[in-house]
Amino acid sequence: MERDRIPEPAPYVRAFERLGFGMFIHWGLYAQLASGEWVMKLRNIPKAEYARLKDTFAAEDFSGRAIARLAKRAGMKYVTLTARHHDGFSLFDTRGLSDHDAVHSPAGRDLIADFAEGCRAEGIVPFFYHTTLDWHRDSYRTDFPAYLKYLRDSVEVLCTHYGKVGGFWFDGNWDRPDADWQEDELYGMIRRLQPEAIIVNNSGLHKLGEYGHPEIDSVTFEQGRPHPMDRRGKPKYVAAEMCQTMGAYWGYGSADFAYKSTKALIEHLCACRKVGANYLLNIGLMGTGAVDKLQEATLEKIGGWIRVFEPAIYRASPCGIAGGGSDFGLAGEDGKLYFFVHRLAVSGDWNVTVPSGGVGPRTFAGVRKRVRSVRWLDNGEELAFVQDAGKDLFAFQATGYPYGVDYGVRVAEAIVEE
Ligand code: GLC
Repeated sequence: MERDRIPEPAPYVRAFERLGFGMFIHWGLYAQLASGEWVMKLRNIPKAEYARLKDTFAAEDFSGRAIARLAKRAGMKYVTLTARHHDGFSLFDTRGLSDHDAVHSPAGRDLIADFAEGCRAEGIVPFFYHTTLDWHRDSYRTDFPAYLKYLRDSVEVLCTHYGKVGGFWFDGNWDRPDADWQEDELYGMIRRLQPEAIIVNNSGLHKLGEYGHPEIDSVTFEQGRPHPMDRRGKPKYVAAEMCQTMGAYWGYGSADFAYKSTKALIEHLCACRKVGANYLLNIGLMGTGAVDKLQEATLEKIGGWIRVFEPAIYRASPCGIAGGGSDFGLAGEDGKLYFFVHRLAVSGDWNVTVPSGGVGPRTFAGVRKRVRSVRWLDNGEELAFVQDAGKDLFAFQATGYPYGVDYGVRVAEAIVEE
């Protein structure tokens, strides 16, 4: 039926979905205080005092190329960097729009240029986060139309000086929910100057996955488990992305001890892929632009997992296969099916292994094709299975991890009859 029709994604939106896993980076003046990106607001630092952080912002350790290489090691395909955050400070050369930018700091260079070039050299797609609210620019409060022009002019700079941009990630409209943000004009300009850029506008913590302006290409799930998108009868296909902090904060926090484990992060990545959403995992750079060692090591660890299970993450999509608990299946572009198994135990000796879950049969519904064989993707071990298509029953015998191994989430591939 027409009103149940699911629209086809535009090619650039499909391309975005295929990017799958990206790095979010929060970095700006606040990083020098190492207390998160909202520190100016939440500690009531007067504007003039906060602005002095610009005098010590040297960015001596920032390298777009090094960031892009790290993203690759993490198995990621894109990076979204805060070109300007709520404190109004721009990492790019605003070309006369404001002196609250990196070229007017001891850094003395356009850090977004460095970032975009570094990404391109490594085959990583650069995205720009841009705040829409502004704690620094007075016109945000005193003359909103003038402020919106300043916002558009700033985004125009980003559209015209850094080559092809993967997308724009706006954030802050929730600060003035009743204002006329003149989104038609902002997005219209982007469409003219960067026709293939993805347009996102963060709906915020309390409106996960909510549709916004018709030009928006992807909804956001901030810090939350994304739910499947109901696209039936929608005028266009909108993608989904979930962003998440690695610790407790987006901006670097030296007293942030609330880091998620690599296992938890891998589970979140899988939860995103389960519903076809991208996963945008955040790190906060330190004041100098250096990457914190724990964040770097965590990303590299995740990269190790991706290398083993790559096709299941990057070349597979939801097809209605559901298992028990968090388990699920995806349909691979190669015609295979991929089964994601959580809470799998280690096979070992009870003196040295702590059971972390079950071994044994894992059952899935929604397997429509006849399965020929099932094996673990990591070590190729063949797994016994049973299938009764008439009863929509499919199960395979999930053997435990060999001693010394634990992937957190393990993926089996099934060869099916065409
Ligand atoms: C929130 C916060 C902001 C952060 C963003 C990332 O909107 O205001 O600090 O950049 O989430 O999703």
